Amino acid sequence: MEYRNEFEKDVIQGLRQPQKSLSSKYLYDEKGDSLFQQIMNLEEYYLPECELEILRNQTLEIAKTFPFERFDVVELGAGDGSKTLHFLKQLVEAGKEITYYPMDISEKVLETNQRLVSQAIPNLPICPVHGDYFKTLESIKRLHPKMMLFMGSNIGNYPNSTAVNFLKLVGGYMQPNDLLLVGIDLRKNPNTIVNAYNDNKGITREFNLNLLKRINRELNGTFQLSDFDHYPYYDPIAGIMYSYLVSLKHQSVKIGPETIQFRKHELLHTEVSQKYSLEEIEAMSKQAGFRQVDHFLDSKEHFTISALKK
Ligand code: AVI
Repeated sequence: MEYRNEFEKDVIQGLRQPQKSLSSKYLYDEKGDSLFQQIMNLEEYYLPECELEILRNQTLEIAKTFPFERFDVVELGAGDGSKTLHFLKQLVEAGKEITYYPMDISEKVLETNQRLVSQAIPNLPICPVHGDYFKTLESIKRLHPKMMLFMGSNIGNYPNSTAVNFLKLVGGYMQPNDLLLVGIDLRKNPNTIVNAYNDNKGITREFNLNLLKRINRELNGTFQLSDFDHYPYYDPIAGIMYSYLVSLKHQSVKIGPETIQFRKHELLHTEVSQKYSLEEIEAMSKQAGFRQVDHFLDSKEHFTISALKK
């Protein structure tokens, strides 16, 4: 079959597998971005607040693991920079001479980032890098010394072996003594995790179902959203939060010229959010070729910013 674009190809192929599955990267259309912003403000979704607490209270401790006065800060998937600016501001106030390279796939988000960060830190040089980081990393390879940031527990959305591969890939663009700071959600009371992905207001549910809406709009799909339910499932042994959509009846759905059958109660997998222990982070970093790891935790020990040294 000829596909019109990558989205269509990934969706049809994903729905043709025995275990139906869609890539979580497609959750983020304009509506998905806005729902994710709302998730970040939810009482139950503790991750952003924990990460911010670490940045507010431990930036200078983190900086001590990096013995340079002048360096570059490269942020992968930078977003609007509203959290990172607390980190950057403290570095500048401590007299570090830094240049900030926010990287993001969305040009609009990069504009907001530049506006927010330059308002907060007027003299900070900012060099936005627009594009998919798999394609833009080459352009920052030569920078040294540099600190790379990958925040927000985004690494959790890579299934286990691909997380190691991702760290290896990023490590390939770093030089000895460069530092990679990774924001990672830790294993904890499973109930806390389950609540974070099944909030009372139903925003996470809407976020998950929005993927079907996107397929309807962009690929001429016929999903009836009321015929699907949001099903978050946490496996505390593996430390994996799975998000699924459940088909509530036997049904066929059209996506352009294709027809996909769903059995009653069939699951469609949409996302993994891996939770780690400190030991797992250390093992993963070693496997990816980093030589040292330091962890900086929030007061509840829910979240870590781990500093991986090349
Ligand atoms: C972007 N990412 C780190 C979020 C997470 O926690 O896995 C996405 C998310 N999915 C549901 N809630 C939040």
